[in-house]
Amino acid sequence: MSATGYRIVKLANGSHSVHSLAHHETFHPVVGPMVEAESLYLRQLRLAERLKKHTGEFVIWDVGLGAAANVVTVLRGLRDQPGHLRFLSFDHTPEPLAFALQHVEELGYLEGYEAAAQTLLREGKTRFTTGALTVDWELQLADFPSLLASSAAELFPRPHAIMFDAFSPARNPAMWTLPLFTRLFQLLDPARPCALPTYSRSTILRVTLLLAGFFVGAGHPTGEKEETTIAANTLALLEEPLGLRWLERVKRSASAEPLHEPIYRQAPLSAAAFEALRQHPQFRQ
Ligand SMILES: C[S@@+](CC[C@H](N)C(=O)[O-])C[C@H]1O[C@@H](n2cnc3c(N)ncnc32)[C@H](O)[C@@H]1O
Repeated sequence: MSATGYRIVKLANGSHSVHSLAHHETFHPVVGPMVEAESLYLRQLRLAERLKKHTGEFVIWDVGLGAAANVVTVLRGLRDQPGHLRFLSFDHTPEPLAFALQHVEELGYLEGYEAAAQTLLREGKTRFTTGALTVDWELQLADFPSLLASSAAELFPRPHAIMFDAFSPARNPAMWTLPLFTRLFQLLDPARPCALPTYSRSTILRVTLLLAGFFVGAGHPTGEKEETTIAANTLALLEEPLGLRWLERVKRSASAEPLHEPIYRQAPLSAAAFEALRQHPQFRQ
């Protein structure tokens, strides 16, 4: 896709966001890139608190680099704190970030991080300091589901946090399948607590994450959504794990069966999937 496949849109609150013409989706459609990233990732993941207690590299996977609003918002939020962050960003195109770099003034959030973003695009990685932080930032430019399935993924540094920001399942189904999240879960280090917030609260997403092996809870509101979702490889990282009442409601949902293939469709949960959910450690008493 060429850089002309994007445009800048002005949101109701006066901030600006990138819009993909091919996907007919605005990256951060209601409250804008920084407000959404602050509530969904920075605060919800309690990154400041976790980084303070942390020694060594704190690894964050950024799935759907796009125009880098999520990474830059996290950097702005943490830069007064001494520490070492390692970002592993994933996207199959550098175009949204290249486009954003041509619109730094309107977008605002990239200011001060232009050089880092340019080096990332040119060299695939960059190291820099911002405030008290040392940052390593690497870009994996590939189709994410294929890359994740490959043996190369086994060499990636294991994450402490994942920002999962693909387009919506209806428009971007390949990024929301059960095989993808199952592989993602398998790649985590069980001894390294890791949480993954994402903007949707849909039943199908939550079922998919549970069946992939994650514990799943209700996530913070973002200004756009009243509730989101947070998944983790340990219950300790969830404030509000989904309970038996949620499980009962799943049976009545018209869209709960995970996508087994990268094709969007809606279906109620199969009996086999419901049984697998009931056996999940989150619901076993
Ligand atoms: C909502 S945008 C991400 C916005 C971004 N996080 C930001 O802060 O600006 C979704 C991103 O997912 C990427 N994406 C979609 N399908 C993908 C795939 N199969 N592999 C890798 N990246 C993909 C798109 O190119 C797009 O940049």
